[in-house]
Amino acid sequence: MGKSPDIRIKTPKEIQILREAGKILAGIFDDIKSLVKVGMTTGEIDMIAESLINNSYVVAAFKGYRGYPANACISVNEEVIHGIPGKRIIKDGDVVGIDIGIIYHNYYSDMAMTLGFGVLDTGRQKLLDVTRQSLMRGIAQAKPGNHLRDISHAVQSYVESKGFSVVRDFVGHGIGRSLHEDPEIPNYGSPGQGPLLKAGMVFAIEPMVNMGVSGTKVLSDGWTAVTADKKPSAHFEHTVAITESGPMILTVK
Ligand code: MF3
Ligand code: CO
Repeated sequence: MGKSPDIRIKTPKEIQILREAGKILAGIFDDIKSLVKVGMTTGEIDMIAESLINNSYVVAAFKGYRGYPANACISVNEEVIHGIPGKRIIKDGDVVGIDIGIIYHNYYSDMAMTLGFGVLDTGRQKLLDVTRQSLMRGIAQAKPGNHLRDISHAVQSYVESKGFSVVRDFVGHGIGRSLHEDPEIPNYGSPGQGPLLKAGMVFAIEPMVNMGVSGTKVLSDGWTAVTADKKPSAHFEHTVAITESGPMILTVK
């Protein structure tokens, strides 16, 4: 048995700040969706993210975190998460995960989505739809009285019913005054297991879904996680508060 997690309960005032932070981050993603085009490099996308973050008067949470060198994580096709922006060019048919964290009034907000460019083949389109939907299934379980692994199980069972696999090497997390707080939120597990969920908990729920095998490996850059079989992967993430009346997605406008 592991040590029981220290899950911070946020006050209504803290939830309000986290909600404002989430609104700002969702707005940044709206702008990214309209600005990013085929032919750009991932490095150029990172520069766009940087200017949107600066223009919003918030701070990029990932830059410098454990030495991470960029504003966003940008993960193309077989890259699962933590892709370091650089010279890779976005091509027609690519699926591109973009993950951004910000700090607003000392509170963190974390969000990711995978965008498809040009015409996607049907498998990749389904991968995006299933991953987005698995996040919504997980979020629906984030309510008082449920257990943590009810979230995990909802994600896993949905993904596997659609013929894809969930990544096990990386997990979601609590979030608040730190980017990563307790608990870890795996995207696999049995219902009814794990700590009881309570109003005031705030979670970054982030399924990573692979078209092929669930295994991953980290490249020699020390960050970029890729699928073991080089097949495509997708990632969606929201920061979510548990309230008495159920889940409240913070990273929406
Ligand atoms: N959403 C990711 C996470 O929660 C992004 C972190 S990237 C890092 O782990 F650079 F900050 F590590
Ligand atoms: Co996260």
